[in-house]
Amino acid sequence: MTKLNWGMIGGGEGSQIGPAHRLGAGLDGAFTFAAGALDHRADAGRDYGQRLGLAADRAYGDWREMLEGEKGREDRVDLVTVATPNSTHFEITKAFLEAGFHVLCEKPMTMTVEEGEDIVRTAAKAGRICAVNYGYTGYSLVRHMRAMVARGDLGKVRLVKAEFAHGHHADAANADNPRVRWRYDPAQAGVSAQFADCGIHAMHMASFVTGQEVTELSADTVSCIESRELEDDAMVNFRMDGGTVGRLWTSSIALGRQHGLTLQVFGENGGLRWSQEQPNQLYWMPLNGRLQVIERGEGGLSPEADRTSRVTVGHAEGMPLAFANIYADLAEAIHAAKAGRPIDPAADLYPRAEDGLRSMAAVFAVAQSGKARGAWTDARPPMFR
Ligand code: NAI
Repeated sequence: MTKLNWGMIGGGEGSQIGPAHRLGAGLDGAFTFAAGALDHRADAGRDYGQRLGLAADRAYGDWREMLEGEKGREDRVDLVTVATPNSTHFEITKAFLEAGFHVLCEKPMTMTVEEGEDIVRTAAKAGRICAVNYGYTGYSLVRHMRAMVARGDLGKVRLVKAEFAHGHHADAANADNPRVRWRYDPAQAGVSAQFADCGIHAMHMASFVTGQEVTELSADTVSCIESRELEDDAMVNFRMDGGTVGRLWTSSIALGRQHGLTLQVFGENGGLRWSQEQPNQLYWMPLNGRLQVIERGEGGLSPEADRTSRVTVGHAEGMPLAFANIYADLAEAIHAAKAGRPIDPAADLYPRAEDGLRSMAAVFAVAQSGKARGAWTDARPPMFR
């Protein structure tokens, strides 16, 4: 298959998530890193882009320059990743979709539900892929959990328990540090801090694995560090359209927790447990059976798990490889679209703009329910009601 050209906006030198995207996109040889506007400082972006190997005329100073520069090229980028701060996602993603590029946007996709609906419509109108980087769904054993649920191993799923709780903003003395403070400032972060940053990963994963969407929720949101205007901890109960009950805890003050993304799924015939910090083991407890450890890369797993596993069993695979699986899905989707053939079903699992929109609706529902002391609130975007 011919290599695709890939570009990135944001993810500049020293950024948190830029390196994981570059590793993920480059890993399988499906994409060539061909263009970028990597930094909010034009010179720094151009310089870093060239140090990473971009041609001087494709190491752009800002995203508008990149849009203009790429639009007219025959070898223009096939996919653009938007890895800038949250408030810029909407404008950049919309502009690139309208110009006919496929986009992978970082989460949260937008700042409002209306913007989210706009992106879904824009992508549909342009006939372009808009994916959202719920990158942890790229883990092989997360794909396997989904396959096990879909083929009925668990029977009806009664309950799902999701967590994304870390302790990295637990220091009250550090609450005024500018790198932390903006996250809890409604003017910069919007209506939610911790749920919008981390909770949406956990909620999306619950949907991804169960194959169900969240319909309504009740949230208890709290600022454990009192000077914060937005929540640093939330407990969210939810209901899903297939009848599954959901429980979700997200926190940034949970000292001793590191990354803290965990999913448990309890069905009539068995239960599953997976943690992002030990992603190569999945715990499976069949009803009336014994607890079993499923290892990533072992024989007899699902096609979805096999497709997303690269090194042999017993060797660790981690987060950049999960991102690489999102890129592998997108490469397959773009090649399939170009050739006018159906996409490999095991690859048709990348998170969509619709998922990004559902997350925004959940963010606003959590904020509203939290203010109303846990009142049950419709969590669906208006366009999906
Ligand atoms: P960061 O602050 O570490 O880096 C942001 C980068 O974007 C910097 O290099 C900055 O110079 C650049 N930038 C800012 N404005 C720009 C503009 N207008 N044009 C071009 N470049 C610009 O931020 P971080 O942590 O890397 O987060 C970026 C995004 O990724 C956020 O939306 C965040 O929510 C998301 N993220 C997603 C994760 C995931 O697991 N999917 C994990 C961490 C972050």
